[in-house]
Amino acid sequence: MNTEPRIPYKFADLEPAMSRDTLVFHFLRHQRVCHDRMVALARGTQFETLDLEELVRVTERNPAHHALYRYAAEVWNHDLYWRSMRPRGGGAPSGLMAQQIAGRFGTYERFAREFRDAASAHFGSGWLWLVWRSGTLQILTTSNAGTPLVRGDTALLALDLWEHAYYLDHQNRRAAYVNTFLEELVSWEDANRTLASLTAASESRAVARVRPEAPALLRRTGL
Ligand SMILES: [Fe+2]
Repeated sequence: MNTEPRIPYKFADLEPAMSRDTLVFHFLRHQRVCHDRMVALARGTQFETLDLEELVRVTERNPAHHALYRYAAEVWNHDLYWRSMRPRGGGAPSGLMAQQIAGRFGTYERFAREFRDAASAHFGSGWLWLVWRSGTLQILTTSNAGTPLVRGDTALLALDLWEHAYYLDHQNRRAAYVNTFLEELVSWEDANRTLASLTAASESRAVARVRPEAPALLRRTGL
């Protein structure tokens, strides 16, 4: 199982938007702990050789393995969360994400408003997501360790709504944390890469569907 968590920047690199202490505590006291407990529970079982995404999907299907599922899902969720931020980030996306946000929400400002509203409406601990579902963008939340990975959605952006993600910097002011995420931290690079690979995959499936009809077309046109 190659699941060693890592943050793709240094702990202090998100300052002043997110303090070094927040990132140190979050990574070492939460994600690392979930990772170590996941590895301990999987050791010597049929799950030991699975990659992280498979482990999340397989254990979610069986309530007997939900302790392992919760730890694995938290490791996976945090991995995307770290990649959803970058030093000197924030602001509207460019490229494919800009196009899709314009198509789905009209404007980036409307997207940001719905994103903030979903965070405020979510009760308790959980996650805020921007996912790709049935060919369009969707904002949704999950409770506790819940992850869109098991719903057939493709997660593009993750925001941790557990208080441990923002309490040191913002105390209980979740709205201030979400604003800071949107204005100073969000990174669209990973989302743009994922969306590009989804688009490429759907185009190649479309080509594959067209190809079998080609001989009939050739026969009809006499070519
Ligand atoms: Fe967290």
